[in-house]
Amino acid sequence: MRITVYFGTGGVGKTSVAAATALARARAGLKCLVLTTDPALRLRTALRLEDSTKEQLVLRDPGSGGELWAALLDVRATLEEAVRATARPGEVDRILQHPIFGSIADSLSGMTELMAVERIDQLRRHGFEEIVVDTPPTRHALEILDKPVLFAELAGSHWVRLIGRTYKFVESTGMLALGRKTLDVYSRVEAMLGSTLVRQVLDFYSIFLPVAEGYATRAQKTVAMLKDPAITEFRMVTNPQKALRDVGFFWDALHQRGFRLSQALVNRVWKPGPALPEGEGLARSVVEWYLDVQRDQSQRIAQLREAFPRAPEVRLIGELDRDVDGLEALQMLVAHGVDPGPKQD
Ligand SMILES: Nc1ncnc2c1ncn2[C@@H]1O[C@H](COP(=O)(O)OP(=O)(O)O)[C@@H](O)[C@H]1O
Ligand SMILES: [Mg+2]
Repeated sequence: MRITVYFGTGGVGKTSVAAATALARARAGLKCLVLTTDPALRLRTALRLEDSTKEQLVLRDPGSGGELWAALLDVRATLEEAVRATARPGEVDRILQHPIFGSIADSLSGMTELMAVERIDQLRRHGFEEIVVDTPPTRHALEILDKPVLFAELAGSHWVRLIGRTYKFVESTGMLALGRKTLDVYSRVEAMLGSTLVRQVLDFYSIFLPVAEGYATRAQKTVAMLKDPAITEFRMVTNPQKALRDVGFFWDALHQRGFRLSQALVNRVWKPGPALPEGEGLARSVVEWYLDVQRDQSQRIAQLREAFPRAPEVRLIGELDRDVDGLEALQMLVAHGVDPGPKQD
């Protein structure tokens, strides 16, 4: 199995490019799934994701026999499946119907990255050859890699397991009844990870101990797959205006974690403009403006290539004259060369 992960800031076309990449691979004969987070309504409809959290078959390519599937990253549904897969028989319903499960599952927005990794593992077991991941918009773009590692480290540590078991009790007593020593341990974890994450992790952990232990084991395996360049490729999407800054950021951030950014897709690049019309007037002003913007884009792309002469590979995707709202538009992105195919080793 191979995984392609797309990073990028919001609104640059990440979801569109990820879906188009999956389509290109389905057309090439592979059973490919795009795991997406926030598709615009019409794209969501085109990908059959209106009201379902299960993976959906979008199309089967008659020529190649490939399949395009799509799934929405739904934190709650992913967690429920994890409970079903891991909890002791007989306890699944008790957990799922527990009022605390309801309130936790609803406040799990901070768990998106943890659940993205869990979802990749679920999908891997469902037999997809290729998974294209459209990463969730987060404060810190690379939390999809960082949080599961932290979680697994936390879950593996003896004193955190103890704290996990006692956390609910400690919380309900306001921590005041505790001795200095225990409080020290809490504040050390908080200093390491920030209090919000610690609360989320410990809260989750204290209720779903078996589920969380299972999760941590799977997360470690999945993150190991994400770290294996033979399996996983990291790409990013940006636009001409943001390209230099974005590529610099993601290149460094991935590099610090020991990963390599293989491609930077500069999306929404304008085509060369028409010739300037004769005379004065509105038509001429509009064309002048278009040429100005287009020239500025070309300069920025040239600067990007100069700043990153060898890697990542810079690829340009043209601006479509329509919204990316369905399969036809995705096919146009494919025709623009969105995906040169999975990386060959
Ligand atoms: N190459 C393109 N040409 C024209 N419109 C595009 C292109 N790529 C993306 N868009 C449009 O840009 C908007 C944001 O795209 P989306 O894929 O949702 O971005 P992101 O996932 O990064 O937030 C959407 O309205 C989409 O239709
Ligand atoms: Mg998106």
